[in-house]
Amino acid sequence: MGKITIALIGAGQRGVNYMGYALEHPDELQVVAVAEPNQQRSQKFKLQHGLSDEMCFESWEDLLTGPQLADAVLICTQDNMHYEPTMKALEAGYHVLLEKPMSPDPQECIRMGERSEQYGRVFSICHVLRYTDFFGTIKRLLNEGTIGQLMSIVHNENVAYWHQAHSFVRGNWRKTAESSPMILAKSCHDMDIILWLAGADCTNVSSFGSLSHFKKENAPEGAPQRCLDGCPVSDQCLYYAPKVYLTDDIEWPTSAISDDPSLEARTKALQEGPYGRCVYHCDNDVVDHQVVNLEFANEVTAAFTMSAFTNDCSRTLKLMGTKGEIRAAMEKNEIEVIDFETGTTKQISLENPGGHIGHGGGDFGLIRDFVKLVQQGGQGNGLTSAAQSVQSHLMAFAAERSRVDRRVVNMRDFTYDGA
Ligand SMILES: NC(=O)c1ccc[n+]([C@@H]2O[C@H](COP(=O)([O-])OP(=O)(O)OC[C@H]3O[C@@H](n4cnc5c(N)ncnc54)[C@H](O)[C@@H]3O)[C@@H](O)[C@H]2O)c1
Repeated sequence: MGKITIALIGAGQRGVNYMGYALEHPDELQVVAVAEPNQQRSQKFKLQHGLSDEMCFESWEDLLTGPQLADAVLICTQDNMHYEPTMKALEAGYHVLLEKPMSPDPQECIRMGERSEQYGRVFSICHVLRYTDFFGTIKRLLNEGTIGQLMSIVHNENVAYWHQAHSFVRGNWRKTAESSPMILAKSCHDMDIILWLAGADCTNVSSFGSLSHFKKENAPEGAPQRCLDGCPVSDQCLYYAPKVYLTDDIEWPTSAISDDPSLEARTKALQEGPYGRCVYHCDNDVVDHQVVNLEFANEVTAAFTMSAFTNDCSRTLKLMGTKGEIRAAMEKNEIEVIDFETGTTKQISLENPGGHIGHGGGDFGLIRDFVKLVQQGGQGNGLTSAAQSVQSHLMAFAAERSRVDRRVVNMRDFTYDGA
């Protein structure tokens, strides 16, 4: 099979970004249809990919009703709109690439995994970190026994204060009920990577964490509901919206506040939309810091920390084995291996280092892998299987259950029904 065809469901930030792969690699991937209710986004995408009017649909329901239009679909709608289009697409004969998290409901995650097996289709989740040179190199070093037998993992997700404010205080992922808890929305990538590096099933999970800072008790005196309504601390506040969104830089995160990047449209967005609100007067409820302890069937243990209170948006790790240590910092592209016997430290250089943009090269690596899998009719092995993704999502659900109930969750007994 040569070039494959794909239809995009949800031409928002993520969908448009992934489909840049088709523009760079037209011999591998062609976008043939889109479903997007926002007319401005739909029109822009249509022009980018040379689509006809008949191939632009207003919703996923319209696209998936009727004859099959492509080999695969990429589903990039919001978290709570993943399940129905995925089930329908698998049933209709499409291979599916789905944005993470699979669903805010654990039962739906399990059912999607089962459905893909039932139909024998490729069903991959956008766990982009597995496709980065950074994590691929760490996995290879472990497989080669470079640090002996792996015993412990310390993994930090440094969210960055400004990213927390944008996405998880003012933005789309601020409320558990409307999207998903932080451990799923932001850190299901980390659960997935830890599961992959540990190399065995997860057995026990415990977690603590809270929303401590971004709430009204911490609002500066006199701070209004919106930054533009005469905030008395605009000079000192890290989160004063005009300082963040009305600069010359119109890339993400500014691109998320308005489809029209003009100063006028962005100012209007701050006057009326969610991103102009004071970060201490929002309706957010997801945590701003959380720890998770994990135990695996091979006795590897992992300690994970997610925190909003960091300068950089980055991931840092330490992996401890019987013969050595790996210390790594993703955004700096640094991996060093310390050998206990020789006492030497070796710096590993990456072939394709990447930064924060495109998740360190992971975004396009993921699409490349998915295209290959579809070309092989689902017969090959991708870096991420639906079964692995279901397990790492269930680890996140178990962590949230542990945090809320203040108890250790045994994965074998955990029923995933919210109980
Ligand atoms: N893999 C990652 O690292 C990563 C990073 C950020 C976000 N995400 C996830 O990606 C998903 C999308 O996030 P985003 O930032 O692109 O959101 P977005 O809001 O920019 O895009 C979602 C799009 O879906 C469209 N839509 C709404 N209803 C629809 C319907 N009925 N049919 C078709 N389209 C419809 C919206 O109009 C919007 O354009 C979310 O689940 C998010 O959690 C993943």
